[in-house]
Amino acid sequence: MTSNATLPLPELSIDNLLCTSALSTEDIHNVFQTANVLKAGRDQHTAVLRNKRLAMIFEKDSLRTRFTFDIGMQDLGGSVVFMDHRDARLGSRESVKDMARNLERWVDCIVARTFKHKVLNELAANADIPIINGLSDFVHPCQALADFMTLGEKWGDLRGRTITYVGDGNNTCHSLIYTAAKLGTHIRACSPEGYEPNARVVNEAMRVAQQTGAEISILNDPAAAADGTDAIYTDVWASMGQEDEIEERNGVFASYQVDSTMMARAKPDALFMHCLPAHRGWEVTQDVMDGPQSIVYDIAENRLHVQKALLALLIR
Ligand code: CP
Ligand code: NVA
Repeated sequence: MTSNATLPLPELSIDNLLCTSALSTEDIHNVFQTANVLKAGRDQHTAVLRNKRLAMIFEKDSLRTRFTFDIGMQDLGGSVVFMDHRDARLGSRESVKDMARNLERWVDCIVARTFKHKVLNELAANADIPIINGLSDFVHPCQALADFMTLGEKWGDLRGRTITYVGDGNNTCHSLIYTAAKLGTHIRACSPEGYEPNARVVNEAMRVAQQTGAEISILNDPAAAADGTDAIYTDVWASMGQEDEIEERNGVFASYQVDSTMMARAKPDALFMHCLPAHRGWEVTQDVMDGPQSIVYDIAENRLHVQKALLALLIR
């Protein structure tokens, strides 16, 4: 194999990745297929994005998203400019529209991590280059793609399996619901009352699920949600931007901690998942995080491969 092996690049039905709800089931499988080829030959596709440039604008901290997009772009022969926007939200110095219209003259793609999802829509509406959502208050699409790519590696067929998400009905939960619906994977989302996922997301996913055979349940009882499931997923109780609610949330979510008792309710070979960063001792115990059922670092690894696939498929 040469160091610049040809990478099959199937057409996607989307120009931007703002939310997995916009992807078809076939698109998702095409992303996985491309990611698998890139993973199998990490150093064999070094010219796919030669002379292509990526801008990354982050309003929030990041380890995984920032590193994997940067390293992924370099793996494919492209370059990256990172703009740290933690001290000033996008649109504060100049309009989002003007930022988009400048950036599209210089780079071939933008990855943005924002507080407000509508900022991503605005970037996409005003830039004639792909916009990729690196996490917003609403969804975390790259995460869900890496989650399901990893489950595909573990399980083979994703259809008919059940994932239980326990915790805040947040961005991570929304993307899991949207993506599970597309892939025919059953999902139970279990949150305290008042912290359930957005009803619009659930209704939209339920409509998709009618076609794919996925079952979507919204629950409040963690024991019932964990019962006989194939995987248990959790995320932080207070997301970035909710730091002033931490104390209150730690109380509300206390009985939603994923511990060995909860894992024992699931199937014996059930997997433990977390998007990370994890707060050990809060939403998950140390023993579950580090235990044999945990696949958290496999998922983190696949962020790299799935995002390389997205970059290769979206930048043309
Ligand atoms: N899971 C995830 O997106 O991690 P970062 O916040 O570190 O990017
Ligand atoms: N729900 C978390 C995910 C971090 C990857 C947050 O938004 O902070």
